[in-house]
Amino acid sequence: MDELRTRYLGAIAGATDEAALERLRVAALGKKGEVSLRMRELGGMAPEERQVAGPVLNALKDEISGAIAAKKAALEDAALDARLKEEWLDVTLPARRRPHGCVHPVSQVTEEVTAILADMGFAVAEGPQIESDWYNFDALNIPDHHPARTEMDTFYMAQAKGDDRPPHVLRTHTSPVQIRAMQERGAPLRVICPGRVYRADYDQTHTPMFHQVEGLAIDRGISMANLKWVLEEFFSAFFGTTVKTRFRASHFPFTEPSAEVDIQCSWEGGTVKVGEGDGWLEVLGSGMVHPKVLEAGGIDSSRWQGFAFGIGIDRLAMLKYGIPDLRAFFDSDLRWLRHYGFAPLDVPTLHGGLQ
Ligand code: DAH
Repeated sequence: MDELRTRYLGAIAGATDEAALERLRVAALGKKGEVSLRMRELGGMAPEERQVAGPVLNALKDEISGAIAAKKAALEDAALDARLKEEWLDVTLPARRRPHGCVHPVSQVTEEVTAILADMGFAVAEGPQIESDWYNFDALNIPDHHPARTEMDTFYMAQAKGDDRPPHVLRTHTSPVQIRAMQERGAPLRVICPGRVYRADYDQTHTPMFHQVEGLAIDRGISMANLKWVLEEFFSAFFGTTVKTRFRASHFPFTEPSAEVDIQCSWEGGTVKVGEGDGWLEVLGSGMVHPKVLEAGGIDSSRWQGFAFGIGIDRLAMLKYGIPDLRAFFDSDLRWLRHYGFAPLDVPTLHGGLQ
C-alpha cells in the first residue's frame, strides 16, 4: 500500500492537465481501479486482518481523491493566471458602434392614431387578414354582384377542388373587423381597428398592401354630430393644429347616410399644408352604420345606432411627414427608412407629444 500511495501521489503531483488527472482517478478509484480492487478483497479477509486493512485503504482512497481535487484546483488557478496575464482589455478605447433600427412611419402613425383615439375611449380590436367572403362583403351589406366587390380589386385565396363555397379573400378594408367586434363585444361599443388591407393596385399612391384604421362607435342616440366632433378632434390632435373638416354626401353600402370627409389644406409651391388655406383634401369615408350591418353584428338596430369611419394610415403618414411616394414605404430601402423613420424610444403619447 505504501507503494500505491507513493506512486499515485507522485503521479498526481506531476500531472499537467485535467485529462491526466482523470486517467489517474480511474486507474486508482474507478470500478476496476487498483484501490477499488483492494477494497473488494476486504470481503475475503479474516476479520482481524480486515480491521487493519479497511481503515488504511479508506484513508488511502480519501487521500488520493483529496490530492486529485487539490491538484485540479491548482491547475485551474494556474490556467486562469495564465489567461489573465495573456488577455487584456483597453477600457479607454471608444465602444464599437451598434447599428440601431428605427420605427417605420406606418408604425409611428398607427401609434399616434391609437394614442389619440384611445384617449377618446376607443379600444383597439383586430381581425384576420385572410377574411371570409361573408365578413369582408355580405355582412357589410355588399351582396353578391354588388359593384363594390369588383371596384375593390380583390385578391382571392386559392380554393380546394370541389369546394363550392365563396373563396376567402385578403381583406380589402378593415371594415370586417367592425362585424367581429360587434359579435365579440356587443353594444355599447367604441373600437378602432388598425391593420393591413390588400387590393390589386399599384402606382404612386397605391400599393397592393396598405393600412387602414377603422373607427366604430355604437350607443344610444349617436348621431353624425358625434362623428364630426370625433373626427375634428382627431385631426386637430394628429396634425397639431385646428383642422376644419368638410362632409360631402357619398355612398357606402355599410353606412346610411354616408359621407366622405375632406380636411382643410393649402396647396402652395406644390406642397400640401393641412389646417390652413382654402383647399380641401379627401381623407376618409364615414357614415351612420347601416341597420343591416348592426344586425349582421348581432346588435338590435331598433335600440342602438352608431357611426363608423375608415382612414388610410399610409396616406396620413404621407400627409403629416411630407412623403411623396407610397411605393417607397414598402421597398425596405434602409436609406429611406433612416430618413423617414423615428427613434425607437420616441413613443407617441398625448402628454409626451405626438411628434
Ligand atoms: N371601407 C371603406 C374603404 O375601404 C372605408 C370606409 C367608408 C369605412 C365608410 C367606413 C365607413 O367605416 O363608414 O374604402
